[in-house]
Amino acid sequence: MTKSLHIAPIQGHTDAAWRHFHKEIYGGNHSYYTPFIRLERGEFRKHDLKDYLSPLNENHEVVAQVIFKDMEELGALLEGLAGKGVKRIDLNSGCPFPLQTARGRGAAFVGNKEEFGKLPEMLARFPEIEFSLKMRLGFENPGEWRGVIDIINDLPLHHITLHPRVAKDQYKGEVRLDEFSDFLSASNNPMIYNGDLITPQDIAGIENRFPEIAGVMVGRGLLGRPSLAAEYSQSEEWNKDRRIKEMMKFHDRLFDYYSSELCGDHQVLSKIKPFWEYAESEIGRKAWKSISKASNMAKYQSALALIDR
Ligand SMILES: Cc1cc2nc3c(=O)[nH]c(=O)nc-3n(C[C@H](O)[C@H](O)[C@H](O)COP(=O)(O)O)c2cc1C
Repeated sequence: MTKSLHIAPIQGHTDAAWRHFHKEIYGGNHSYYTPFIRLERGEFRKHDLKDYLSPLNENHEVVAQVIFKDMEELGALLEGLAGKGVKRIDLNSGCPFPLQTARGRGAAFVGNKEEFGKLPEMLARFPEIEFSLKMRLGFENPGEWRGVIDIINDLPLHHITLHPRVAKDQYKGEVRLDEFSDFLSASNNPMIYNGDLITPQDIAGIENRFPEIAGVMVGRGLLGRPSLAAEYSQSEEWNKDRRIKEMMKFHDRLFDYYSSELCGDHQVLSKIKPFWEYAESEIGRKAWKSISKASNMAKYQSALALIDR
């Protein structure tokens, strides 16, 4: 029996078009999350709402993720989204980007016990919404979560996704599995593991080590190998030929979409090149480097022809 599989939000990558065509090509019953939605000068950013309200979301299960520094920001975000009929919201307390943490958002929020303590009251105001929490162990110290676990245990959460690093680690270094294990034992809420899952074997390894988890979330590993979720849920490892063939189909659908929506090669290239950012080992170094260096469409097309197939 496979566990639930969640597709991580990644700014600059997993926008509505990426999610839509990923689901169209690979199918599956996975939850997708929007990259974080936040307020700017007290207002929703237009492009966040455009992404969440896009008709492209109609073919997949999408959770709106919000990032906030205090209850004033969170209240405004929840009221705005509830007014749009949003039913599932993920609370981001894991983002390590200094621009966000310096304002007390994301991973820095774990250290703000006073505001954290107001979450139960805030969430209780929105009984129609199913909440989840996505977090890191802490900002600087991997034991910081211990200061808020009692509050978290009182929250009516559908699940907690834990990336067992601290903000200072960014996305590098070993994941802290012992600390994940302690969190898992201390948590009343179902737990989703997230971090460095690149192959179906990595997912199986985490499930074996932590059989109590409710599921896993995959991010960069899935961007580099978009069939990862399908391979896992079908319990079947695809060979390289099939993986690349499907990845090209996915790419072509996205490329055609961006070409029809955007103005000019420059804009299309800036949206499509990130598609390959984490795929170096999948497509081969030569193609990967040429794609990242391609400065015009002709060079981009020649670079695609270098992909190992
Ligand atoms: C460029 C980039 C942007 C990200 N944007 C978000 C985001 O908007 N919201 C969020 O919760 N996590 C974000 N993440 C974190 C991922 O969702 C995920 O937790 C992280 O990449 C670890 O999982 P992985 O090892 O499977 O990639 C981002 C990560 C990267 C590398």
